Amino acid sequence: MALSILTSVASLAALSAYLDAKYHIRHDLATGRSGLDPIASDLTWLQDRASQHKLLTYDILEHHASHQPHHPFVIFEGRTWSYAEFFESVKGVANWLVNAVGMKGGQGEMVALDGGNSVEYLMVWFAVEALGGCLSFVNWNLTGDGLVHCVKLSDATIMIADEDVKQNIEPVRPQLDQLGCKISYYSPTLFSNLTDTTPIPPSARENVTIESLRQLIYTSGTTGLPKGVISTTGKELLIGKMVARYLNLQQSDRMYTCMPLYHGAAHSLCTTPIIHAGATIILGRKFSHRTFWPEVHAGAASTIQYVGELCRYLLNGPPHPLERQHVVQRAWGNGMRPDVWEPFRERFNIPVINELYAATDGLGSIFNRNRGPFTAHALGLRGAIWNWRFGDEEVRVKMDVDTEDILRDEHGWAVRCKDGEAGQVLHRLTDETDVGGPAYYQNEGATKNRRIRDVFKKGDLWFKSGDMMRQDPSGLVYFVDRLGDTFRWKSENVSTNEVSDALTRFPSIAEANVYGVSIPGYDGRAGTASIVLTPNTNIGDVDWTAVAKHARSLLPGYAVPLFLRVARELEYTGTLKLQKGRLKREGVDLGVVTGGDCWFWLPELSGGYVPYTEKDWEAIKGKKIRLA
Ligand SMILES: *[C@@H]1O[C@H](CO)[C@@H](O)[C@H](O)[C@H]1NC(C)=O
Ligand SMILES: *[C@@H]1O[C@H](CO)[C@@H](O)[C@H](O)[C@H]1NC(C)=O
Ligand SMILES: *[C@@H]1O[C@H](CO)[C@@H](O)[C@H](O)[C@H]1NC(C)=O
Ligand SMILES: *[C@@H]1O[C@H](CO)[C@@H](O)[C@H](O)[C@H]1NC(C)=O
Repeated sequence: MALSILTSVASLAALSAYLDAKYHIRHDLATGRSGLDPIASDLTWLQDRASQHKLLTYDILEHHASHQPHHPFVIFEGRTWSYAEFFESVKGVANWLVNAVGMKGGQGEMVALDGGNSVEYLMVWFAVEALGGCLSFVNWNLTGDGLVHCVKLSDATIMIADEDVKQNIEPVRPQLDQLGCKISYYSPTLFSNLTDTTPIPPSARENVTIESLRQLIYTSGTTGLPKGVISTTGKELLIGKMVARYLNLQQSDRMYTCMPLYHGAAHSLCTTPIIHAGATIILGRKFSHRTFWPEVHAGAASTIQYVGELCRYLLNGPPHPLERQHVVQRAWGNGMRPDVWEPFRERFNIPVINELYAATDGLGSIFNRNRGPFTAHALGLRGAIWNWRFGDEEVRVKMDVDTEDILRDEHGWAVRCKDGEAGQVLHRLTDETDVGGPAYYQNEGATKNRRIRDVFKKGDLWFKSGDMMRQDPSGLVYFVDRLGDTFRWKSENVSTNEVSDALTRFPSIAEANVYGVSIPGYDGRAGTASIVLTPNTNIGDVDWTAVAKHARSLLPGYAVPLFLRVARELEYTGTLKLQKGRLKREGVDLGVVTGGDCWFWLPELSGGYVPYTEKDWEAIKGKKIRLA
C-alpha cells in the first residue's frame, strides 16, 4: 500500500511532506542545530530502497558482508566477528528458525526474543529480519505475569530465548503454551554447530513496506505492565541512518555498549547506526565496573554509550588501571547529571560528552555535543533559528505536579512556562501528522492518554512527553524530572533530580535516590532519600549534622529531605534507571519497610539528621510531632 502511495506522489516536495507527516521524521529528530533533520536525499533514498525491496537493516548488513567482508562487525568477550562471518551465521540461524523452530517467515510473523547481550542475540534479531518477520524485544529480566503479558500482547507464536533465561521462562511455560507460543532456546554451542547456510530468498521479505510493523520495544513497566512501542520499517531504517550521520560515524569507528539490546538506546543509538556506517560494535554482556574499562580498552572503542547512572557508578568506583588507557573520544548517552559531567570528562579523559534526550515512545529529541563548560549539564541549546522554526511546535506548560494535570488559566487554557520555569514538554500534533505517531501496540487507551486536546485553543492536539524541563534565558534546555517523580511539599515543587544532585555533592554520599512519601495528615509528600555511602565510609563516621547543613545550604527548606535511608546499594532497572516503586510504596513506616537500611530523619528545629525509630513514626502518625 505504501508503495502505491509513494509512486503516485509526483514531486519530491510532496513526497517529503508526505513522509514527514507520516513518520514524524522532522518531529522526531529535528533540533534545528543537531544535523538530525532528514534531508531530501534521505527521503529519496528511502523511496529507492522501498522500490528495491531493501528496507531492512538486514539488507545493509548484507551489503557490508559482501563489500567489506573482513571488517570487524562485533567484538564480544575477546572474540571478533567480521561482517562476512556474522552474516554467514545469520543465514545459519535463519535456516534453523525455519527448519527446527518452525518459523514460516513473511511480514507479520511475530517472534519474541528474550535474552541478554550476546552475539547470538544479534544473530536471532537479523535472522528474523531475513525471514521478513517482526520482533518483540522482551526484557530478559521479566518473569511471571509481566513476561506472559508481553508475549500475549504481541501475539508472538514463537519465543526464541537464551538458555540463560530458562529459569525465567519455564515457570510460565503452561501459560505460553496456552497462548500458542512455542519456545526454543539458543546457546553459543547450538549456533556454532549450524551448518545449513543456504541464502534466505528475498521473497521472504516481499511484503515488507515502509509502513509495515517492524518491531516492538517495551516501556520499562515500572508503573504497571510494559507497553509495546510500535516501530515501523521505514522509521527504523531512517533513524539508524540519521543517527549515524549525526555522529559522523565512519567505518573505522568502534562503539562500546553494555546497555541491554532489548532497549531503544542500544538498539537505535548504537547497533543500527553502527551497521549503517559499516563500523564496529564492542558489545558488553552487561554493565560492571570490573569489565567496563578492560572491554573499552581491548576493543579500542572510540565512543562509549552511557546512561547517567552508569557514569556516576564509574566515577564513584576506585581507580581502574585502564580508565585513561583508551582511545575514547566521545561519551554518547542520556542523563549525565551536573555533578558528574566535568569530573567524568576529566577523570576518564573523554573530550566530548554527547548528551541526548529521546524516548522510544516520544517525539522531539534534543542533542548536545559538548566539549567544554558553556553548554555543560544541558540537553541542548536553542537559538533564534530553533525558536523561529519550532518554538510553537514544542512548548513547556505549567503543571500541577500532584495530579499531573496541566494547569489552566481563567479561560481554561494551558500556561506556557517562562524562562527558568519547569514544565512538562508538549509537542504539537495534528490529526494528519499523528498518523504513525508514537503508539502502543494493541493499547489504544494508553496511546490516547499521551495526547491532549484544547490546550491553547479549541481543537488543538498535543503529545505529552511526561518529562519536566526548563530553559534558561540563553536558550539552554535542562532536564528537570520525570513528571511522576517531581512532588509537592508545603505547596512547593520538589524535583527529585535536583535534590539527589545536591546530596551527592556531599563528600561521603555516593548515590542518592529521592522520592516523596505520603504521610497521614499532610498534603503533598515528604522528601525521602535512599542513599549509598562512598566505599570505605561507615555510617558511624558520617557527620549527620554536616549533611543537614550541606543540604540546607544548597536547597530551599522545603526541598531538604526529611528522611534518609542508608542502603548498601540502590536498585536499578535492567536499563540502569533508578527504581523508586518499592521505596515509594514502603514509605517511612518502619513496620513496613524491608531490607536492613539504616534510617535517619530531620525533626523540626533539629540541627542535623538523627536516628529514626518506630517511636518517631508513632509520634508523627499520632500528630504528636510536626514535620519540618
Ligand atoms: C505476501 O502477501 C501476499 C498477499 O497477501 C501473500 O500471498 C504472500 O504469501 C506474502 N508473502 C510472504 C512471504 O509472506
Ligand atoms: C557442537 O555440539 C556439540 C554437542 O552438541 C558440542 O560438544 C560441540 O562443542 C559443538 N561445537 C562447537 C564448535 O561449539
Ligand atoms: C510548581 O510548578 C509549576 C510548573 O509546572 C508552576 O506552575 C507552579 O507555580 C509551581 N509552584 C510553585 C509553588 O513553585
Ligand atoms: C537480569 O537478569 C540477569 C540474569 O538472570 C542478572 O544477571 C541481572 O542482574 C538482572 N538484572 C536486573 C536489573 O535485575
